[in-house]
Amino acid sequence: MNELAPSILSADFGDLRGQVLATREGGASYMHIDVMDGHFVPEISFGEPIIRSVRQMTDQVVDVHLMVTNPGDHFEACVKAGADSITFHYEAVEGGAGAYGGPRDPGKACALSEELIDRLHALGCKAGISVKPRTPLEEIYPLLDKLEMVLIMSVEPGFGGQKYMPESTERIRALRAEAQKRNPALRIQVDGGVKTDNAAMILEAGADLIVAGSAVFGDDAEGRTRAFMDILRA
Ligand code: DX5
Ligand code: ZN
Repeated sequence: MNELAPSILSADFGDLRGQVLATREGGASYMHIDVMDGHFVPEISFGEPIIRSVRQMTDQVVDVHLMVTNPGDHFEACVKAGADSITFHYEAVEGGAGAYGGPRDPGKACALSEELIDRLHALGCKAGISVKPRTPLEEIYPLLDKLEMVLIMSVEPGFGGQKYMPESTERIRALRAEAQKRNPALRIQVDGGVKTDNAAMILEAGADLIVAGSAVFGDDAEGRTRAFMDILRA
């Protein structure tokens, strides 16, 4: 079933509870929480205290997107705070050639990612991996059968309100075809620049979990969630 994960990065924090519950009322079964460390991405957002607050507010799936270096250092605290699912960045792992700027070494990055996935599972948490728009998708194929989810970034991570990169659609399609062979139950999440006017195209390409921040929050988060749900359920 297709689902919507509103990203609280664009929510009004003066009324976080009201905003979260508006999306729940509108039919969103996930809450997407963007944790940024000011190192893997330029900005700092928020961390465990917000995860804990959201956990206490709602029974929606708490879906944490870690845009941080050394993601494994934060798994336990995020799970304790209430994360149901944690997604880390392939580029944040040594050999994935992201924030480390070191040489690309897919064999090493996959082995280290596999350890991280095992650790999430040992904590009773669902495991997701995310790839930035320019990262070769094939590098994560050996991991697909171990993961619950892959998050395809359709903008450069770090900020809400950016424009969807059209080349993402073919990446979603390629990943869905590969997942069909390796792990048909894999969730494909798409994050960045998703609006009601491109959501149907993204679903058609093979995504089944859509993140939307600026297109959901603001005035009438409930109504804007419903508009997405109409497309997701069509
Ligand atoms: C960007 C974050 C996104 C962001 C999406 O790095 O990972 O989750 O909140 O925002 P919109 O939907 O406004 O592009
Ligand atoms: Zn995100």
